[in-house]
Order: sequence, then structure tokens, then C-alpha cells
Amino acid sequence: MTGVVPMKSCLIFHSYSGITRGVAQKVKAACGSDLIEVIPRKRYSNLTAYTVGSLRAMRGESDLIDPETINVSSYDLIVIGTPVWAFRATPVINAAVAALKGFEGKKAVIFATCGGSPGETIPILKKALTGKGVTVIDAVVFTRKDLDAKTADLITAIKTALPT
Ligand SMILES: Cc1cc2nc3c(=O)[nH]c(=O)nc-3n(C[C@H](O)[C@H](O)[C@H](O)COP(=O)(O)O)c2cc1C
Repeated sequence: MTGVVPMKSCLIFHSYSGITRGVAQKVKAACGSDLIEVIPRKRYSNLTAYTVGSLRAMRGESDLIDPETINVSSYDLIVIGTPVWAFRATPVINAAVAALKGFEGKKAVIFATCGGSPGETIPILKKALTGKGVTVIDAVVFTRKDLDAKTADLITAIKTALPT
């Protein structure tokens, strides 16, 4: 090995029903990203996701999560993926953004998976990151119909941001 350190990405995500996790796993396989799955301390059920969870998402609230802090200082690119709940990022992802450490001056690619109505998810998530000094260089919205095509778009966005 010479002194060349490959550029590295981490992909921080929440997934309630598995779709966002599936995208994350494909990105890991294609880009070598480290996956950081963020989990609410109080797990949602179908009932509480659509009632409590949607209301909390709509209000922009944050859940208590594991891991409690997410140190991204060793990464060149942060990728954040959220399911859409009530046209917003989930309270778990709101908490993940608040839990970031070592993010100063980093670049990010964000994505949202949804049934077809992402609403304000991307603009609000982008604003939260920009407000912390993170530069959001790309955003991809997935619906159920275009998972494969959008996964390819996301992988391209990440590879473009991480030249080897
Ligand atoms: C509580 C809840 C609220 C949702 N709200 C929306 C919504 O506002 N718009 C939309 O298009 N899809 C909505 N969906 C669908 C999810 O965004 C979509 O199925 C997503 O891909 C799920 O990702 P996951 O499997 O990683 O949890 C909602 C799903 C749940 C459980």
C-alpha cells in the first residue's frame, strides 16, 4: 500500500418497512459505503407509525435514537436516506441530522423513498443540512415504480462525488 487513502462515504438511513434499507444495501454493494442504520428507541407499530409518527414527522420533531451520536469526521461524503412520512423526513432522520458530529464542510447526497408523494421532504432535509454547513450536492426521490432506475441514479451521484 502506498499513502493513497480511498475516498469514503457513509450512508445513514432509517427504514420502517425495508425499502430504504434495500436501497442502502445496493449502494453499499456498488460504492462500498459504510451503512449506519438509525433506529428509534421506541419502535413504531403500524398503528403508531401512521398516527404518532406521521404527526411527529409533520411537526419536524425528533425521536430518541440509536446510535445517539453519528460521527462522520472520517468520511468524504455523507449520504442520508429517509422514508417519507406525511410528506416529510421521519422523526428518526430528523434526530439523525441533529446527532451528526464532525460534519463541518462535508458534502452530502440525500434521498427519500415514498409511495409517490414526497411533499416537502427533500427541501426541508436539504435546508436542515445546509443550515449546519453541509453542502447538499444531489437529491434523489424514489417511488415504488422506479426503484431500480433511481438506485442507479443514486449510485451515479455518489460515485461522481467520490472520484477515485
Ligand atoms: C407512517 C407512514 C407515512 C407515510 N407517508 C407517506 C407520504 O406522505 N407520501 C408518500 O408518498 N408515501 C408515504 N408513505 C410510504 C413510504 O414513504 C414508503 O413506503 C417508503 O418507501 C417506505 O420506506 P421504508 O420501507 O424504508 O420504511 C408513508 C408510510 C408510512 C409508514
